[in-house]
Amino acid sequence: MDNFKRVEEINKSLKIDAVLISNGNNMRYVSGFAGETGYLYISDNHHAVITDFRYTYQAEAEAEGYEIITIGSGGYEEAINDLLKKDKVKRLGFESEDMLFSKYEHLRDALAGYELVPIKDEITRLRRIKTPRELEYIKEAEAIGDKVFTEILSFIKPGMTELEIAARIEYLLKVNGGEGSSFPAIVASGVNSSMPHAVPGHKKIEVGDFITMDFGCVYNGYCSDMTRTIVVGKATEKQKEIYNIVLEAQMAALDAIKPGLKGKDIDKVARDIIYKAGYEGCFGHGLGHSVGLFIHESPRLSPAEEDILEVGMTETVEPGIYIRDFGGVRIEDLVVVTEDGHENYTHSDKSLIQL
Ligand code: GLY
Ligand code: MN
Ligand code: MN
Repeated sequence: MDNFKRVEEINKSLKIDAVLISNGNNMRYVSGFAGETGYLYISDNHHAVITDFRYTYQAEAEAEGYEIITIGSGGYEEAINDLLKKDKVKRLGFESEDMLFSKYEHLRDALAGYELVPIKDEITRLRRIKTPRELEYIKEAEAIGDKVFTEILSFIKPGMTELEIAARIEYLLKVNGGEGSSFPAIVASGVNSSMPHAVPGHKKIEVGDFITMDFGCVYNGYCSDMTRTIVVGKATEKQKEIYNIVLEAQMAALDAIKPGLKGKDIDKVARDIIYKAGYEGCFGHGLGHSVGLFIHESPRLSPAEEDILEVGMTETVEPGIYIRDFGGVRIEDLVVVTEDGHENYTHSDKSLIQL
């Protein structure tokens, strides 16, 4: 990977002599190394993965062209100090949006004499526009989600618990080719569906329940994300009304997606429809977010998002209506922004399914 060149540009523009990348997804994005622990150090003279013995062989296999440094008894401090000395570094950048304060304090003390410069999310921002290969992985991850949705419909029966359904979803994501879940699957039934991020529990599925299922998998490191809400048995008029408003808001927002618009412009399209239908106060989260190596990436689709959509960015579109003591509906697709608008990676049925 030659993403290190883009990092060197950042170093130059921030007037830092080297950067210590601690965010695991950024480390993977730049170097290919997908291990759990370590740092990526990039200066003009050194491109080094610093890790411990558990990951040495993996780093050698994955981080092609990088120097692999296995820490010894002197720990990370010694390894980093060695590089800083060799490079005659004065200013060392670190990812202030990622590093724990306690770790920062430790490094600050161990690297006395060097100036530690917070660089916020400069490296993370490199990941916003996806390459064709990344999009292929995200598309495949979402296709796995689509398969799982079809399969879970024939599994759900009244009397089983939310936990049983969530466990089955996570099992099916792996059986169908995912490396695991991109986040713990949400299965929220009945009144629980009024909580956007309800945690599946021991509640049993009853006839008449809404069930909101929000899940995704990881494929070659890349995440997917989708939500469907169904009704067990025959839907009431109120359930149909809410469902149709959310669906209308979602379709209108999808239609509006195109390069050049701000994240907040797309959010407004969905929000206006929901508020005008009388449900102001029942849609309290943003419309969507980007997805990549991490499940929640920038830019977002939200009332506060000023960033502009560009070709190759992914976004979820996930409006919802949540009514206390009643239940809720969310419908979520995952798309990529294209020259003409968007391509939707999610193909599961969006008409109201009554099981
Ligand atoms: N539960 C993750 C999401 O849809 O954003
Ligand atoms: Mn989701
Ligand atoms: Mn989402």
